[in-house]
Amino acid sequence: MQNFIYHNPTKIIFGVNTINQLKDNLPRVKILFLYGSGSIKKNETYQKVINNLANHDFIEVGGVAPNPDFDFAVEITKTIKEKNIDFILAVGGGSVIDCAKFLAIAAKYDGDLNDIILGDNAETVTPLPFGVISTLPATGSEMNSGSVMSYKGNKVGVFNSNNYPVFSILDPCLTLSLPKHYIGNGVVDAYVHVLEQYLTFPQSAPLQDRFSESILKTLIEVGPKTYMEPQNLEHRASMFWCTTMALNNLIGVGVESDWSTHALGHQLTSMYGIDHARTLALVWSKNMRLRKENKMEKMLQYGQRVFGINETDNDLAFELTLKATDDFFESLGVPTTFTSYPEVEDDLGFKMMSRLKALKMNTLGEKDDLNIMKIMQIFKL
Ligand code: NZQ
Ligand code: ZN
Repeated sequence: MQNFIYHNPTKIIFGVNTINQLKDNLPRVKILFLYGSGSIKKNETYQKVINNLANHDFIEVGGVAPNPDFDFAVEITKTIKEKNIDFILAVGGGSVIDCAKFLAIAAKYDGDLNDIILGDNAETVTPLPFGVISTLPATGSEMNSGSVMSYKGNKVGVFNSNNYPVFSILDPCLTLSLPKHYIGNGVVDAYVHVLEQYLTFPQSAPLQDRFSESILKTLIEVGPKTYMEPQNLEHRASMFWCTTMALNNLIGVGVESDWSTHALGHQLTSMYGIDHARTLALVWSKNMRLRKENKMEKMLQYGQRVFGINETDNDLAFELTLKATDDFFESLGVPTTFTSYPEVEDDLGFKMMSRLKALKMNTLGEKDDLNIMKIMQIFKL
């Protein structure tokens, strides 16, 4: 295990009706209330937030779209600066939270905002503080410091190690309006977050392994239940805590992570608009199969401990584990084959190769063992 510092300052306020605690956690400063394309107005969330803001000085800005857009965020940054906003309240899914994180950096950056995306400048500022009400269990953005923005046709990660939410309210009641489709997405996104940190190679980090395996097993237990019983609050709450724990950095401390499935999935979202989680289900097992030699030891551990696969033929155990994972994704209504997406073109492999070359992504993975030629095989239809 490598040395590490773990510092996660986000206060988590978890559970039924915890949205009522919003007013007590908001600072007495000028607030920007940020939200998405209107889902919070179709349920009670918007009104509940407004009630909590009754004694606060605030302005509201809606319209953050999924896969939040850089140019849209640049416009909001102007409002933040003109109105002297001191605190952002993000209410929504990963896209709204990520947009708020970008704004928190942009509001304090005096130069050209393109620099935040294109260089390391995001780290140079102390971001504006922000709080979160998460309405979609999936990304873990509510308890980490990273964000993903759409920039000129690409998805780009923006990182600042101080850009954690001050607080995140995780009230499962606010998520009951989610269409079933997004429950499947949320479970798969969180599951792959764990796999990208866990399924690498043995790194003498047994506690991180056991944490990861518990999240995977809990998602296998409660994911299908909340998918089949979308109004069951107990299941939804357990799913929500899993999705947050999957990407709050805890399981990834002291170990090398992979993240190649995410890097490739982001290309599919940029090219075809496929939901983030759905791209991961398309890529993961194909990606693992190409890197069998380097992944074998952890794959056998994962198959045995999480799915109870005790096959002694390693090659067969490897395949059975990939199949068990794909079957789990499919059971949540999340397809694992490109045939489910008619919009995907036959020459996807070549298109992907030229995109990755342009982005200078020549190798991916914890051992840089996924090169462009292998990547083309993932996308050969
Ligand atoms: O925009 P509104 O009207 O709110 O509707 C949203 C959106 O259409 C809707 N929704 C959210 N809560 C709802 C609801 N509908 C009904 N009831 C509710 N309670 O759901 C739709 C999708 O929302 P979005 O925020 O885009 O989904 P998700 O939470 O999956 O976030 C995806 C984004 O997060 C990024 C992805 O790349 C993508 O841009 N990620 C961020 C990460 C991070 N910051 O740590 C890690 C992830 O790997 C991921 O890359
Ligand atoms: Zn993800």
